[in-house]
Amino acid sequence: MERITTRLAEDATVQSLVNPALPVELLADALRNARHETWVCEEDGVVVGHLYGAMLENATYGNGVWIGPDGVSFNTTDILADLYATAGATWLEHAALEHYVWTLDDVVSVEPWYELGFARMHMRGVLALREPRAREFPSGYLIRRGDVDDIDTAVALDDELDAVQRVGPSFSIGLDHSTKRDDLLETLGDPDTNHYIVEANGRAVAQCLTFALPPRRGSFDHTLHLSAVTVDAEHRHHGVGTAMVDWALREAFHAGFQYVETNWRVTNRRAGTYWRHYGFVPTYVRLHRTIGTG
Ligand SMILES: CC(C)(COP(=O)(O)OP(=O)(O)OC[C@H]1O[C@@H](n2cnc3c(N)ncnc32)[C@H](O)[C@@H]1OP(=O)(O)O)[C@@H](O)C(=O)NCCC(=O)NCCS
Repeated sequence: MERITTRLAEDATVQSLVNPALPVELLADALRNARHETWVCEEDGVVVGHLYGAMLENATYGNGVWIGPDGVSFNTTDILADLYATAGATWLEHAALEHYVWTLDDVVSVEPWYELGFARMHMRGVLALREPRAREFPSGYLIRRGDVDDIDTAVALDDELDAVQRVGPSFSIGLDHSTKRDDLLETLGDPDTNHYIVEANGRAVAQCLTFALPPRRGSFDHTLHLSAVTVDAEHRHHGVGTAMVDWALREAFHAGFQYVETNWRVTNRRAGTYWRHYGFVPTYVRLHRTIGTG
């Protein structure tokens, strides 16, 4: 536990948008639940590294292992390599071939994983909600809340997001979207999720989703999660996306949220530029490795 708190404190020193505070009980519970799946490396009776990955079957991302910011610590790359080799052998026995790890996006944190064949996949961006902005929609655009009756719109716009990522340089072609409609229906029916739809001439042309981020290591309390931000291709670059996000974040600010997080695929370069220009600061990066292809 001490190694994890130290690690997060170090992350927060490098990046002030990382929350160093850990709900101790939450962490103790998580560690207790994970003790049979946590690997520890010792030298002369002293712990020099640990590794925990949650084995999960994800409909979109396959059968894999997910390692969080508090799931790993290591004094040297060799120690991480030993931990990964040992834990990985067990994961492979369970056919968990997709390995994901969230780590602080700084050289010291990511280099050891690159040495083990991992590559950058998703960025997490964080923004402190200090002054809500209200850039106007171009004329002819209206924003409203969506609900379950907007499922067709939600699916159609989400398909547009997938279309952007199916072509290069993302080439995200192997993902299974068969549960998308059901997943979105569940999301839209969730009273804690906000669905925003922008219309032009009575037709939905943009959407985004927001919800309160559950407590998690590295994120601050009162953090909003923003996702599924999509503007129809014909309506991009007119300020629609920015006005929609301003709107959603302004409502969140007035509801008491202090931070907002969003994720983007690193190869979705336009999105990365857009989020940075908006003011999101990259904190963690999700690295990924598929076993069996190299
Ligand atoms: C990313 C996305 C949501 C942005 O929406 P958008 O409506 O095009 O965003 P805006 O028009 O507000 O801003 C886009 C750019 O146009 C510029 N812009 C805004 N109004 C403009 C105008 N009237 N004329 C010219 N340019 C304008 C902005 O400065 C911005 O530049 P930047 O990306 O360099 O910061 C949109 O491109 C999209 O849907 N992409 C596909 C889906 C996707 O990748 N979503 C993000 C998932 S993480």
